[in-house]
Amino acid sequence: MTMKKITVVGAGHVGATTAQRIAEKELAREVVLVDILEGIPMGKGLDQTQSGPVEGFDSRVIGANDYGAAKGSEVFVVTAGIPRKPGMSRDDLVKTNADIVKSVSQEIKKVAPKSIIIMVSNPLDVMAWVAKEVTGFPRERVIGMAGILDTARFRAFLAEAIDVSVEDIQAMVLGGHGDSMVPLISYTTVSGIPVTQLIARDKLDAIVERTRKGGGEIVGYLKTGSAYYAPSSGAVQMVEAIVRDKKRLLPCAAWLEGEFGLSGLFVGVPCKLGAGGLEKVVEIELTKDEQAALEKSADAVKKTWEVVTL
Ligand code: NAI
Ligand code: 2OP
Repeated sequence: MTMKKITVVGAGHVGATTAQRIAEKELAREVVLVDILEGIPMGKGLDQTQSGPVEGFDSRVIGANDYGAAKGSEVFVVTAGIPRKPGMSRDDLVKTNADIVKSVSQEIKKVAPKSIIIMVSNPLDVMAWVAKEVTGFPRERVIGMAGILDTARFRAFLAEAIDVSVEDIQAMVLGGHGDSMVPLISYTTVSGIPVTQLIARDKLDAIVERTRKGGGEIVGYLKTGSAYYAPSSGAVQMVEAIVRDKKRLLPCAAWLEGEFGLSGLFVGVPCKLGAGGLEKVVEIELTKDEQAALEKSADAVKKTWEVVTL
């Protein structure tokens, strides 16, 4: 299964890598890459298309500074935003990115009112709300990417510590995309074996802590930017689940309507993704501690959200 057109908004680190991965997997015949920077999306798109003959894909990546080429796209991945600049408060950053995501969402609504939006821009859980609010799309068609990334970090650290393949680690990290995220130890297994049988508790606790700070660890090294290889993998896994109607069960940010006792906000929960986008929020049993941690994480999302007015 392949779509006709998928658009990635923002041709920076995450956006460009996402476009390349979508093209390499031939998830769409045309991948449109939109950015406000003159020339950048066109140049990156051409370069990526020209890797096709070597990598063996026929998808074309088309760069643009407006949304004409994006008309009729079935899926949008939104990565547009600015990083925090010196002297800028966290609240200023939230407001600036909310304005950017607002304008992007207005354009998406105009050119592709039936599309599915995968939000990546930070602060993720709040930006997903901006897109849902501005487009008026139902919750099935606005989903945030963060849980797959946080879970991938958790799985990578566990695989290294236990010395097994990453493929055999099953886990889910829920909650908001921030320090209050909630790794579910009770559901973490190595090929079905509870992880607590294979790693000492203090080592596991250290891995949970490292996972919570996983984004910051990479910023600490890069200095001028944040992670993009694993984030783009996360976004593309969601795109693939939708394009190929996989019915995958993945941790994504979804608009909650009473699930887990939470309502009226985006937060990371187990989601079934298929051709319809978010096909179901899967309510699972949580321990008392996990439920309390999820509620605390939801409170952290609300606090970030407070400063945004549309
Ligand atoms: P970047 O700075 O490399 O790229 C952002 C791009 O957005 C730039 O090319 C910029 O020109 C463009 N842009 C700004 N305003 C725009 C507009 N109105 N329309 C179209 N494009 C516009 O940043 P990077 O590393 O690609 O990160 C992008 C976003 O993704 C950031 O907000 C970052 O925090 C977030 N992120 C989220 C993750 C998650 O797990 N949800 C993981 C990694 C990054
Ligand atoms: C990350 O977790 C910055 O949200 C981004 O790497």
